[in-house]
Amino acid sequence: KIPVIIDTDPGIDDAAALAIALNSQQLDVKLISAAAGNVGITRTLENVLRLLTFFDKKILVAQGAQSPILRNLETAVDIHGKNGLGNYQLPAPSSSLLVKESAVEKIHQILTESQVKVTLIGIAPLTNYALLLKTYPSDISKIKEFILMGGAWGRGNFNVLTEFNFGVDPEAAKIVIESGVPVKIAPLEAGRAALIKPEISNQIKQFGKVGRMFFDLFKTYRGGSFATGLKIYDALAIGILLAPEIFEFRTVKVKIETSGTYTAGASLFDLKGYLPSNSTTAEVIEKVDEKRFSEWFLTEMSYWKNL
Ligand code: BDR
Ligand code: CA
Repeated sequence: KIPVIIDTDPGIDDAAALAIALNSQQLDVKLISAAAGNVGITRTLENVLRLLTFFDKKILVAQGAQSPILRNLETAVDIHGKNGLGNYQLPAPSSSLLVKESAVEKIHQILTESQVKVTLIGIAPLTNYALLLKTYPSDISKIKEFILMGGAWGRGNFNVLTEFNFGVDPEAAKIVIESGVPVKIAPLEAGRAALIKPEISNQIKQFGKVGRMFFDLFKTYRGGSFATGLKIYDALAIGILLAPEIFEFRTVKVKIETSGTYTAGASLFDLKGYLPSNSTTAEVIEKVDEKRFSEWFLTEMSYWKNL
């Protein structure tokens, strides 16, 4: 099993990513850390704990930072609802899973104690992982790779050229992505190319209470894109680990812009060799097999049908 930590800000697509990761026989989820992002940290933490109760999974949870490293938090309640989960009512949170350490301290402890390198999955603004690298620089040697949802080859969803996760905390994105640790990225375009069409959502509805919950969440997601197809961005990060054959990757030099008035958080994936030759690189999804992605997503969701 691949040991992983998931840093997340549920978030409707985060909930889908967690549902797949938590049921996977291939992953050993050591910790879920809550990040401030789609909604504030109190709410994302509560959502993680509520989802674990609902999924009946016992995974340790740690609370992450309240705000980005240098900036004020900007949320995405218009897309995910005021409570971050389409205003869906989940069961009460199981706070027994919440550790007393902060996300940074708990991740550091897990990395220190692990005999093997651990994969860090990031599907939220990267504040927690950046603070980890700044606080414990030698932890780098214990991180196998970062698997991230974020950035864009072109057009953004937070600003003209900026994707939400990188745009909310550009400094954090820069620290993580330019750290030298191997990085794999599912950018916005990959999510846009992996649409979940209504016929798939209608089948997911048949998969027990989890299926019914996702059907209800999907109905409200992104102001109602249900009929035209849903972009379940964060699930692609889990797909990178579990079903990489669905994607074609391109290795590119990368920089994260932090100083631009309108471009802070923009991901510069260099296809032409403009960036300095000593730049770090990332493997970025360039193509998605949409049909296989839908089939994979449906199959993973079907494992919940007996809960
Ligand atoms: C990312 O932003 C968030 O709203 C989603 O959960 C996803 O992680 C997409 O840009
Ligand atoms: Ca997210």
